[in-house]
Amino acid sequence: MDAIQAIADRHGLAVIEDACQAHGATYHGRKVGTLGDCAAFSFNQNKSLCGGEGGMFVTDNDAVLERARAVMSFGDMRPVDAGRAYHALGLGYKYGHGNLPAAFALASLRRLDETNAWAVDNWHRLRDALDDVPHLLPGFSTAERTSNGYAYVVRVDPAYAQERGVPLDQLTERIRAALAAEGADFARARWLLPAHGVFQAKDAFGNGAPWAHYARPEIDYSLGQWPRAQDCIDTCLWGINLHRPPNGPRQIELLANAIRKVFTQLDTLLNPLLDTLPKEGSQNAEPLPALACSPDTDRLS
Ligand SMILES: Cc1ncc(COP(=O)(O)O)c(C=O)c1O
Repeated sequence: MDAIQAIADRHGLAVIEDACQAHGATYHGRKVGTLGDCAAFSFNQNKSLCGGEGGMFVTDNDAVLERARAVMSFGDMRPVDAGRAYHALGLGYKYGHGNLPAAFALASLRRLDETNAWAVDNWHRLRDALDDVPHLLPGFSTAERTSNGYAYVVRVDPAYAQERGVPLDQLTERIRAALAAEGADFARARWLLPAHGVFQAKDAFGNGAPWAHYARPEIDYSLGQWPRAQDCIDTCLWGINLHRPPNGPRQIELLANAIRKVFTQLDTLLNPLLDTLPKEGSQNAEPLPALACSPDTDRLS
């Protein structure tokens, strides 16, 4: 964030934090959501602070708050306590928050410190248990950038794929399938943002808008420009639920066992893939059969 803020300061830009899953995480001792000019948190699905849907916009800047309120309600610029004017003075949306999800989120907020501490404790327990597992990169969290325990990312060392001469994304997909066969569900992010159709076509609202009119029509979204982000897409497996409350030490032990089992058998996992790869490499290898579970495998629930 320091590097982003420095760029923003140089060019007179505002910084909007996408703090979607970061409720309670910190950066250099400050809570995420208080670092930029404003921030948004999500309350949907499986977030650490969950209301089922919706989210929260935060800022300490009155002008930004006023603008956000207007955008939330069709560009109607009246103060909230004055009711709606039904007169749009700018373009806006219908982003009102439903009362029921807000009530769930408020109840969840009362327990957030407790549930975050629980998730973080599990997170560290899992990382410690996986300390010596080969070809597995450790989960990332430092004193300057603390995790809120939302996700545990399992990430294969790219050097291993290179050593074995297999495409990184196919190796990761096989690891994902093998973990799933052990009852440990991890998800992959499939796309870089610029790979989405809307950016590739540069046509969001028809007739090339907004790119054709004011958003740098010449901007180039050809892939290959973001190798580090691509590397994350190709290696990261996101675990969201299994290490979080109400699970505790026993479930963490089972989860660690499943991950260890898969990562200590990567060569076995790769054999069928090596057989199917044409000499010059392929993006279309057959799906791998799942790694067989041993009869005494203690599956996670
Ligand atoms: C980084 C990030 N930002 C924003 C969102 C969107 O959140 P919402 O669906 O609440 O708008 C997500 C989805 O979880 C996300 O991962």
